[in-house]
Amino acid sequence: MAKRQVRIGMVGYKFMGKAHSHAYRDLPFYFDNDVQPVMQAIAGRDEAGVKAAADKMGWASYETDWRRLVERDDIDLIDIGSPNNTHAEIAIAAAQAGKHIICEKPLALNADEARRMLEAVDKAGVVHMICHNYRFVPAIRYAKQLIDSGQLGKIYHMRAHYLQDWIMDPDFPLVWRLRKDICGSGTHGDLMAHSIDLARYLTGEITEVSGMMNTFIKQRPLGEMSGGLSAKASGEQVGEVDVDDAVAFICRFDNEAMGVFEATRFGKGNRNTNQFEINGSKGSVRWSMEHMNDLQLYLDTDKEGSQGFRTISCTETIHPYAGAYWPAGHIIGYEHTFINIAHELMQGIAENRSPSPNFEDGYRNQLVLEAVETSSKEKQWVQIPQF
Ligand SMILES: NC(=O)c1ccc[n+]([C@@H]2O[C@H](COP(=O)([O-])OP(=O)(O)OC[C@H]3O[C@@H](n4cnc5c(N)ncnc54)[C@H](O)[C@@H]3O)[C@@H](O)[C@H]2O)c1
Repeated sequence: MAKRQVRIGMVGYKFMGKAHSHAYRDLPFYFDNDVQPVMQAIAGRDEAGVKAAADKMGWASYETDWRRLVERDDIDLIDIGSPNNTHAEIAIAAAQAGKHIICEKPLALNADEARRMLEAVDKAGVVHMICHNYRFVPAIRYAKQLIDSGQLGKIYHMRAHYLQDWIMDPDFPLVWRLRKDICGSGTHGDLMAHSIDLARYLTGEITEVSGMMNTFIKQRPLGEMSGGLSAKASGEQVGEVDVDDAVAFICRFDNEAMGVFEATRFGKGNRNTNQFEINGSKGSVRWSMEHMNDLQLYLDTDKEGSQGFRTISCTETIHPYAGAYWPAGHIIGYEHTFINIAHELMQGIAENRSPSPNFEDGYRNQLVLEAVETSSKEKQWVQIPQF
């Protein structure tokens, strides 16, 4: 019998648009889902650009206004891969039209918008997810299993940093990622949001934070993203940078663990250094995105004299998602994290449930982001509102 189709309408077709398109195309190669994704339509504002993207990435049709995607009867799922200031309006309209939704992170510009998005999907009863793709790395999934099964014991510490260096040149333009009205916050919502999601996933809920934020370069030439993390200036005009270049915070978790977090786009030499370490009473794990298939594990139960961090290649069939791909040792990459999330999303739609992380996670994440901003402004500890 033919599988039920999930007809997707995607907004935005550059960096994340490419990652999501690739995931929907490749999903059936690796996972046997109960529903079948159909790349029905994409939306962008520039007709020539959106048409070329639809042809290149294999979408059946295109629209020049995202509202058309939401109105169309032949669309079941709206995939939001456009800048942060568009997320709330598109998601709320999509929910009201009864569409399932996957939205890129951070969920919104601020916690108030995120809460309204959560209320809209709850009210509509649609399936929803947020695209925190690092949760879908096999090594991180395996770390979660080790923690949940008690093999690391009581968790005392999590420390994480997410470091990039692509805006260090003062002539790098003032793209949307550096404008508060479009992105909400800078490095914080872009990179720290991922670390916060991993912290909530692996360690527990964050209860209070003390943070600091800094903007090193205060004016930049105007310009636009040209794909990936590249950009081009649009002339001589300059504008004010009103978001953070770097952020750091310490925190407490609900299980008494302590957290230390740092994110920056001024970490010279670090192209995408997303790393964490978690220490428990019986063991520790370490992970780094640039070696994403590996998990470093220390276990107290190892024989005295042979103790030390070992490197596990999380490519065996026992490791989450890994068995869907290649024989052990045949590594996977960044794009596979999006295939894994697409797999969970399709299963969620098949079973009418919202897999984690979803809009509730997005809202909780946004509460932490906002608390760090408040703490940085007020120079004091800030509690995360109860939810
Ligand atoms: N999960 C991740 O690891 C990850 C990585 C990068 C970006 N993101 C998130 O993905 C989202 C998009 O980022 P990106 O890097 O793909 O940006 P990008 O600049 O590469 O692409 C943005 C796309 O949105 C389109 N767009 C902008 N405004 C629009 C509008 N009003 N209507 C329709 N289309 C519009 C642009 O034309 C472009 O196609 C952001 O929320 C960002 O935070 C997530």
